[in-house]
Amino acid sequence: MTTQNQQSQQNQQTTPRTLHLNAFLMNAGHHDAAWRHPDSSPERVTDLAYFQELARIAERGTLDSIFFADGLALWGKARHNALGGFEPLTLLAAIAAVTEHVGLIATASTTFNEPYHLARKFASLDHLSGGRAGWNIVTSGTVDEARNFNREEHLEHRIRYERAHEFLDVATKLWDSWEDDAIVLDKERGIYADTGRLHPAAHRGEHFAVAGPLNVPRSPQGHPLLVQAGSSEDGKEFAARHAEAVFTAQQTLTDAQTFYKDLKSRLPRYGRTERDLLVLPGIAPVLGSTEAEAKALERQLTDLQVPEYGLAQLSGMLGTDLTGLPLDGPLPDLPEERDINGNKSRFTLVAELARRDGLTLRELIARLGAGRGHRVVAGTPEQIADQLEEWFTRGAADGFNIMAPVLPTGLADFVDQVVPILRRRGLFRTEYTGRTLREHYGLPRPANRHARAAV
Ligand SMILES: Cc1cc2nc3c(=O)[nH]c(=O)nc-3n(C[C@H](O)[C@H](O)[C@H](O)COP(=O)(O)O)c2cc1C
Repeated sequence: MTTQNQQSQQNQQTTPRTLHLNAFLMNAGHHDAAWRHPDSSPERVTDLAYFQELARIAERGTLDSIFFADGLALWGKARHNALGGFEPLTLLAAIAAVTEHVGLIATASTTFNEPYHLARKFASLDHLSGGRAGWNIVTSGTVDEARNFNREEHLEHRIRYERAHEFLDVATKLWDSWEDDAIVLDKERGIYADTGRLHPAAHRGEHFAVAGPLNVPRSPQGHPLLVQAGSSEDGKEFAARHAEAVFTAQQTLTDAQTFYKDLKSRLPRYGRTERDLLVLPGIAPVLGSTEAEAKALERQLTDLQVPEYGLAQLSGMLGTDLTGLPLDGPLPDLPEERDINGNKSRFTLVAELARRDGLTLRELIARLGAGRGHRVVAGTPEQIADQLEEWFTRGAADGFNIMAPVLPTGLADFVDQVVPILRRRGLFRTEYTGRTLREHYGLPRPANRHARAAV
């Protein structure tokens, strides 16, 4: 194992830096009107074969990983959007069976789960996929979710992150509860596992009491790749301590550079280096063979938006009920970020976007349609590649979350038209060289704390 880590660190030092690309998959596509577009297949959002096909497209493009977001409530979404609603770990297990290389990242909430459950599920997915599991750790932002889990009010933002820290503490103890060589498989003597190499978690804390060990042996990656996606102050501190990759929504190069630098500068506090954490801002590429064609697709999607749906989404992001307000008027006065108990960073991003560009509600809904606050770029494959290269080389990103506005076409176009340009520029792999998700991301396999202690 040490050899593998040393190899990975040597590679980090000697090979030129290249992009990491994650396909963020979303039902009929990321645009909130995608399901109405003739190229999408909303009738397939509960069809396993559809998602397996999307994963194979990502694999055809040698992308690092695919990713599913998740929320634990329906909200008011079903009237005007196509929702599959599959639980990500279940779905990714079925995708693992028909793919070989692509990483599989599932969202799961630390607020509405128990650590033993999640540690077991992610260890299972890591085994089932041969080391391709990743966990997007979220704290969950809405009271609608709380109401599905025995609470009238949502836990306070700060407490949610406190619980998340302890959750990770317990989960990593459980993943370390089996040393790598604990299974001895001695048929002669009738010994399956060396119980001297199994360790209790013996955790007693503020939120959890967990005995351990886990009932699943240590998995190929040691533990799943840890991803985080909240950009509030608490979120960034959480990422600096635990995350190996961070998904983030950033609108401008300057904002993205500031975020990147800020996050990386927090790492030494936790004994970590810049290379231990990758930053992946989201981008919704609206592709066309000419710029005019791309802009026309963007307009076509905007024309298909249902304003009532956009307004409801916006109300959620801004923590403010906007129903009934004139669409061609300005935003009302908004609360301060400190008073938001939901997703703080998205609130601030959207409020600043509206203020900076003086947008009416209708204009804001149109701007958010394709990426819900992530950057949207409409252009030719060359123009999209230029944008990715600029952010990558100017200290704003280590890679990107690719959010196709319409699926499957938007992902296929990205893979077949943008990826070849990135490859020609030496910015992206031409084939998979690693086997596990950690190897794709150039991140080492974590050492088991007990083995470390013994050394
Ligand atoms: C790309 C991306 C994907 C996210 N996916 C989810 C998700 O699937 N479920 C969820 O509850 N929150 C999701 N979030 C929100 C955050 O993970 C986090 O829970 C939220 O932003 C609150 O954190 P904050 O207040 O620190 O910003 C996502 C955020 C980003 C940037």
